[in-house]
Amino acid sequence: MTEGRLDARGPAKSTPAPYDRPKSLLSEETVKMQPFVVGLGGTLRASSSSETALRIALDAAEAAGARTELFGADYLARLPMYDPERPARVSGRRLVEALRAADGVIVSSPGYHGSVSGLVKNALDYAEELRDDVRPYLTGRAVGCVTTAYGWQAAVTTLQALRTIVHALRGWPTPLGAAINSAESRLGPGGADARVTAQLRTVGLEVCGQGGVPRPAGVRGAHQNAASDTDTVLRMF
Ligand SMILES: Cc1cc2nc3c(=O)[nH]c(=O)nc-3n(C[C@H](O)[C@H](O)[C@H](O)COP(=O)(O)O)c2cc1C
Repeated sequence: MTEGRLDARGPAKSTPAPYDRPKSLLSEETVKMQPFVVGLGGTLRASSSSETALRIALDAAEAAGARTELFGADYLARLPMYDPERPARVSGRRLVEALRAADGVIVSSPGYHGSVSGLVKNALDYAEELRDDVRPYLTGRAVGCVTTAYGWQAAVTTLQALRTIVHALRGWPTPLGAAINSAESRLGPGGADARVTAQLRTVGLEVCGQGGVPRPAGVRGAHQNAASDTDTVLRMF
């Protein structure tokens, strides 16, 4: 856990990937603006790639000056199935309050049978508790979407499904979503591929860009298909 990071799921199940944890890039004034970014996702697998991906993206948001809170699989698995007739008074209250306060959100799901896992979808259903808010659901929030699957097809269809859910919740999916093929890319306790790390960091930074933190120099041109831009994002940390 890094400084400034709340972690609703307690200690990590496994040692996070040994990538270089980003340092804060911004001036003290910018850091004081501190948008609040909530991350949710992962699976109960000990070396969950989707949870590692979430941590990398959230770390980048933190390095861009955000305060963050992580709701990993251990927390999400304790949530009862969302019941619209029994509001989240105890279970799920912390998640609902965090989403209510959030300036940005990062969601990371595995591709399960071509779509978002039940664990992640159930957590997102708790956003229903925000329907009568001044900012209903995820209105006005940038939402970074991340998926991992054992093949491109499910990685991409799951990303599309996640972005559709975010639209339904009135959030703004960030320009870059990260669809990661875990059969081809290294992502877990053993480490993460540089290109995957760069994509995830870009998602984290884009969530903060929408949340009001100026982009650090060099981020504007970042794009998953441009090798030079990937290098730029990696060099930033
Ligand atoms: C129940 C289940 C369903 C899955 N369905 C698919 C699928 O349809 N397509 C696919 O490519 N991978 C599928 N996978 C593989 C996972 O998407 C992949 O291993 C992912 O990286 C797991 O995330 P994790 O490392 O966070 O546990 C499935 C795995 C499980 C356990």
